[in-house]
Amino acid sequence: TKTYDYLIVGAGLFGSVFAHEAKQRGKKCLIIDKRSHAGGNVYCENVEGINVHKYGAHIFHTNDKHIWEYVNSFVEFNRYTNSPVAVYKDELYNLPFNMNTFYQLWKVRTPEEAKAKIQSQIDQLNIKEPANLEEQALSLVGTDIYEKLIKGYTEKQWGRPATELPAFIIKRLPVRFTYDNNYFNDKYQGIPIGGYNKLTEALTEGVEIKLNVDFFKNREEWESQADTVVFTGNIDQYYNYQFGQLQYRSLNFEHQTLETDNYQGNAVVNYNEREVPYTRVIEHKHFEFGTQPKTVITKEYPQEWTAEKEPYYPINDTRNNDIYKNYKDLADQESKVIFGGRLAEYKYYDMHQIIGSALKKVKDVFQD
Ligand code: FDA
Repeated sequence: TKTYDYLIVGAGLFGSVFAHEAKQRGKKCLIIDKRSHAGGNVYCENVEGINVHKYGAHIFHTNDKHIWEYVNSFVEFNRYTNSPVAVYKDELYNLPFNMNTFYQLWKVRTPEEAKAKIQSQIDQLNIKEPANLEEQALSLVGTDIYEKLIKGYTEKQWGRPATELPAFIIKRLPVRFTYDNNYFNDKYQGIPIGGYNKLTEALTEGVEIKLNVDFFKNREEWESQADTVVFTGNIDQYYNYQFGQLQYRSLNFEHQTLETDNYQGNAVVNYNEREVPYTRVIEHKHFEFGTQPKTVITKEYPQEWTAEKEPYYPINDTRNNDIYKNYKDLADQESKVIFGGRLAEYKYYDMHQIIGSALKKVKDVFQD
């Protein structure tokens, strides 16, 4: 018999939730991760007493009461509400697009005035069938919002002019005719008190974890140790790229410690001009109402992805989705390998969705 029931490749949220649930059911698990720490992309590094979101800002939000109660059973959450502000040249705007934004743009004060303003800009453009992202956005929100708050940011994110991006990337652009700067519409939102590591540590309590271990460096050896493999890494790599490589967008994070207790007064400030090379500046302490004497900020630069860089956002165009489908067909035939998580499913997932999908997988596997 094998040493473990499950070898879990990847100590991110998917692997951690699966490990917790399997352990609850009396199963023996080993988690391996190629990084020097557990937690996957929600991992935070402590700098000057501040939890620094090393792989990008993470704000937990969900409408699902069950998932909210599930995460709160491991760690308490604070009342952080995401209310980003956007800088465009020397102007500052509230996000998401709401009455505060419309007042800042046009000095309009009533929903009726704001709606009329947006509609008149849309009517003037007279776009019948949007041929690209620019036309799509213009036909939804008009010229001012598009030029100041969408165009530059989107072009930096994708590394291409908005006129060369497909219209389908933007399906809707939520506009809100109330004075409400809460970015998310979900019922529940917050940050774990003490940081995300508290959540992933609580999930994996009592589970053996080996760090700095790449599954592919010694694949047969690892596979031989467990009855079943739970794989949360890149699915194309699992199958030796036989149908080709799946593409991603990547990000470069530039972290800085500053000798001030408050740099920008908000956790998230977007920079919307094309000319500013980064898209956002994150000031981490504000996620937890920090009162440390110093502060840590992170500038987020979108970049092209190559095999050495972190894969952040899947590019779900037809080419990549077709390639993924081929891998998925192979995965569906496996009886001793379970695939899950953002890399194995080649899909952008928020944290609550990853937890939901891990719990669903657990239900299928253990039939309870
Ligand atoms: P994750 O990537 O966390 O874990 C996979 C693990 O597998 C990694 O630790 C990796 O090292 C390991 N691994 C891979 N290959 C391996 C191998 N060969 N051998 C060993 N180990 C291997 N969500 C949200 O709800 N609110 C938010 O604000 C944000 N913000 C955000 C910002 C940015 C920039 C991104 C890219 C994503 C978000 N998210 C988010 C989404 C969130 O990060 C995501 O839902 C989870 O981290 C996904 O967890 P997984 O376990 O699927 O992957």
